[in-house]
Parts: sequence; structure tokens; C-alpha cells
Amino acid sequence: MSAVLLALETSCDETAVAVLEGFGNVLAHEVLSQAPIHAEFGGVVPEVASRNHLEALPHMVNRALGRCGCALRDLSAVAATTGPGLAAALIVGASAGKGLALGAGLPFLAINHLEGHLLSPFFGEPEIPPHTALIVSGGHTLLFDVEGFSRYRLLGRTRDDAAGEAFDKIAKLLGLGYPGGEAIDILAKDGDPARYHFPRGMADSGDFQFSFSGLKTSVRRFLERGELFDIRDVCASVQAAIVDVLVEKSFRAMHENHRTILSISGGVSANSALKNKAESCAFNESVILRTAPQGLHTDNALMIAYAAAHHFAAGARQGMESDIVPNFCEKDFGRQPDRVGVLQS
Ligand code: KG4
Ligand code: ZN
Repeated sequence: MSAVLLALETSCDETAVAVLEGFGNVLAHEVLSQAPIHAEFGGVVPEVASRNHLEALPHMVNRALGRCGCALRDLSAVAATTGPGLAAALIVGASAGKGLALGAGLPFLAINHLEGHLLSPFFGEPEIPPHTALIVSGGHTLLFDVEGFSRYRLLGRTRDDAAGEAFDKIAKLLGLGYPGGEAIDILAKDGDPARYHFPRGMADSGDFQFSFSGLKTSVRRFLERGELFDIRDVCASVQAAIVDVLVEKSFRAMHENHRTILSISGGVSANSALKNKAESCAFNESVILRTAPQGLHTDNALMIAYAAAHHFAAGARQGMESDIVPNFCEKDFGRQPDRVGVLQS
């Protein structure tokens, strides 16, 4: 019989619970976004996020178990995101997960949020093929060469703002509210991406590093000039500046590593210009482009359950000692405490 896993995700401002059987049979999947609460503050307030996770989580877990007709003791393990993310938010899901596992005598698996994103385009599949992986979320922009599950080599990351952070900060400058990535995406659909030229950070650096803070400064200076502008053209031009570098570096990473599959995950992978540009490049080069199924681009617990299913199948059982790790740590990425040393260095 396939493993049945309960997964909790509370790394930022989404409270999410999922129950997954095997690698793809969804028994429960619920996401509660706190975005409207934080919009008032123009960004996520960690303590507010924490309190809201604490309030919502017990009901959501009960509902999820009720929906799939499972008692806790019938499950194979409990998993929760333990990092990266906001410490005050992570601690809620991680502690709840450990408590539930301990109470029911189940193993606990500590899952890396970014590994959840990275694997999400392959949701449902028991094998992860060799590929190049671009993760573009609100907090991270990371490019990996992937040999298979748990075998990840970091090629590059952002030096400053993440791609999603750039979308959000620029949306704020434009008065589009928080989070603003989707708002820019929608307005850009009717805009001219060639109307304004904004800088493509580190486009010619010859490596796989990214930088988006110069773009934000450039948009701020543009707005300070006080000229009349069409917001749809500004959105389309900003979006093109972000998308161009992401796609160019991802395809170069693929060529250098002789990969024929590119995965793009994280909240920004929902962006239509990014998808369109990556799709047309993939078509021209006979490359296979993988993105997450609908609803799994932004934060959710199914991707955490799916990553946990891979770790569980590989023999991981002992996450109970794991603490939360708010920052991204390259050394431990994709590893479980009881499997350290088994994997490649
Ligand atoms: O992966 P995610 O849900 O949370 C983190 O792990 O950070 O990503 C959230 C980010 C936000 O910055 C949001 O503005 C961005 O994803 N985002 C988008 C779109 N939808 C969400 N950015 C551009 N275009 C979109 N359609
Ligand atoms: Zn995320």
C-alpha cells in the first residue's frame, strides 16, 4: 500500500494543509491565503502571520482528515515545512506537525519549502528526471542543475531582491497593492514591453547570478521624473526586464549542463510572460518545459507532501530533531537528517 502523508505549510502568509497518498493521489488540499490581511500593511507582518496560522491550522487539519476519512494513526507520517521562511510563521506549522506526529506515534519529516517548489512541476510522478530547475518565488531566485531527486547543484542565485520581491516592490511603487506580481501580469497583457527600457540586471555577467534591485531603483527614478505614462506599458516593460534575464540564464544553464528539460517553479512561475517566453524558447530548441499544475505555483502544502513522499520512499523517518531554518542553506538542501552522508556531497 502507498504511503499516506499529512503535510503542513506555514512558511509565509499561506496556511496550507494536504493529505497525499503515494505521489499523486490527492486526498485533501486546502490553502488559506492571509494576503488580504497583510495587504493593509504593504507586506507580510511575521507576528500577524504567526497568529493567523495558529488560529487556522487546527480547523484545517481536522477538516482535511475528515475529508479523506483518515484518523491520524492511519497515516504513514506527518511532514511540515521547516524552512526557509519567516521564523515566527515556520514555527507554527513545524511545532504542530511534530506534536501531531508525536501524539500518533508517527515519523515526522522536515521539508524544505524550496525543494517543495523545485519538485512541484513533477507532481504525481515517482521519478525526478535530470533537468535544469529555476525557482522564482517571493523570497528566492535560484537556478539548479538537478540529477534526480535529492541531487541538486546550485548554479546561481540572486545577489539582492528575488524576482517575486522585485514584482512586489515595483507594484507597490506603482500603487498596485501587495502582493503585486499578479497585478503587474494582468496590466502588462495590454501593454507594450518595448515602450520603456529598464535594466536587465547582470544579464552580461557570464555566470548564473541574478540582481533585481537595480531595476526597482530605475523604476523609482522613472516615476520621480513625474512624466505622464501608461501604466500598462510600464508593467509590460518591467515584466520583460525580469523575464528576459530569467529565461536567458535558464537556457544557458541547460546548454552548459546538457539538459533537455527545464522546470520553472515558485509563485512567479504563474507569470504569463515568463511562461510564454520560456514556452517559445523551449519549442524552438526542442526542450521540454515543466511547470507546476494549476494551483501549485504559489505556496501550498501538496508540494510539501509530494517532496515528503519522495523522502519517505527513500527511507527518511527522523525529522523530529530538526529545528526550523529560516534562511536558505545550500549545504543541507534536499537532505534529511537520517540520510546525510548517503547522498552526494
Ligand atoms: O512561491 P510563493 O507563493 O511564495 C514564496 O515562497 O515566496 O511566491 C509568491 C510570489 C509573490 O512575490 C507574488 O507577487 C509572485 O509570487 N507572483 C507573481 C504572479 N503570481 C504570483 N509574480 C508575477 N506574475 C504572477 N502572475
Ligand atoms: Zn513559496
